Amino acid sequence: MAADLDFRIEPGGMADLADVMVAMGDAFDPQFGEAWTEAQCAGVLGMPGSWLLIARSEDEPAGFALLRKMADEAELLLIAVRERFRRQGIGRALLDRAIEDAIADGIETLHLEVRDGNPALMLYLQSGFVQVGSRKGYYRGRTGKQFDALTFKRHLGVN
Ligand SMILES: CC(C)(COP(=O)(O)OP(=O)(O)OC[C@H]1O[C@@H](n2cnc3c(N)ncnc32)[C@H](O)[C@@H]1OP(=O)(O)O)[C@@H](O)C(=O)NCCC(=O)NCCS
Repeated sequence: MAADLDFRIEPGGMADLADVMVAMGDAFDPQFGEAWTEAQCAGVLGMPGSWLLIARSEDEPAGFALLRKMADEAELLLIAVRERFRRQGIGRALLDRAIEDAIADGIETLHLEVRDGNPALMLYLQSGFVQVGSRKGYYRGRTGKQFDALTFKRHLGVN
């Protein structure tokens, strides 16, 4: 039987950008156009209300989640786990921690957007997100092919 993977999740910041980009490069298939550039990540990390969670296993970057708060709402901008660390609970742990942080910060609603057909949909549905809309051709892949986005939200607050 495989031993459980040892990993930890910590709040991150600009100093973790290189590790974020390592995970980004491994996690996203360029055919779908979902990955962000380093400049885009740095831009968001420099904005008020953004927060980063980084997962590491034996000091190696394994994954991350990037979020941004706006008043009493927040958006999960990106969540990613490197291929070889997948299906061992890191994605769910990142999402659970993001939700925990959001609740502690008084956030009422968490929004996200995901490419139609992305396996991450299962993770979001299991976590109680409900679909609220869709955006036709929102993602543009490497070859110019377009993919629809689905928008989801989860109510976190008591109001
Ligand atoms: C989505 C992602 C973050 C999940 O990370 P992970 O560490 O493998 O997730 P977990 O091991 O915590 O899985 C949690 C649950 O999500 C679902 N899930 C995750 N990957 C799945 C897949 N490939 N197919 C079907 N369900 C999947 C399962 O229900 C899983 O629970 P289970 O393993 O008990 O069946 C990872 O696959 C990833 O980085 N994908 C590429 C980046 C991406 O598309 N991110 C989302 C948009 S920003």
